Amino acid sequence: MNPLELIKHAIKAQGNSQSQYSNFPVGCALLSHDDTIIYGCNIESAVYPSTLCAERVAIYSALSRGIVKFKSIAIVSNNSAKPCGSCRQIIYEYLGDIPIYISDSKGLDYKEYSIGELLPYPFG
Ligand code: THU
Repeated sequence: MNPLELIKHAIKAQGNSQSQYSNFPVGCALLSHDDTIIYGCNIESAVYPSTLCAERVAIYSALSRGIVKFKSIAIVSNNSAKPCGSCRQIIYEYLGDIPIYISDSKGLDYKEYSIGELLPYPFG
């Protein structure tokens, strides 16, 4: 699957975001080894620390379905934001060295990153 196709799925996932407190919707699409696409979006709570990021929603959802091997991941937000520190750690531990496509919400501005670039000197 080409990057833009996966990014389009992440844009759809972004549409499911529950981001009523931050107004910062994030979407994620994770491509498994057998081409299953798992969506994630950020889900916020009135108890703010209970919020979960789009990336971890997608990764935990996949793992809970027994999907443990991945080809690539796409992450979209209105300003092509990079993953937070916790998500970088979970990407490092569970996805390993796969292409990470980070895009704006239109798929017009995307770049490919590796976890080595985003999380140098990782723990674990
Ligand atoms: N957020 C993500 O979904 N992924 C990240 O990597 C960074 C932050 C969400 C969490 C919260 O719902 C909103 O963006 C603002 O921080």
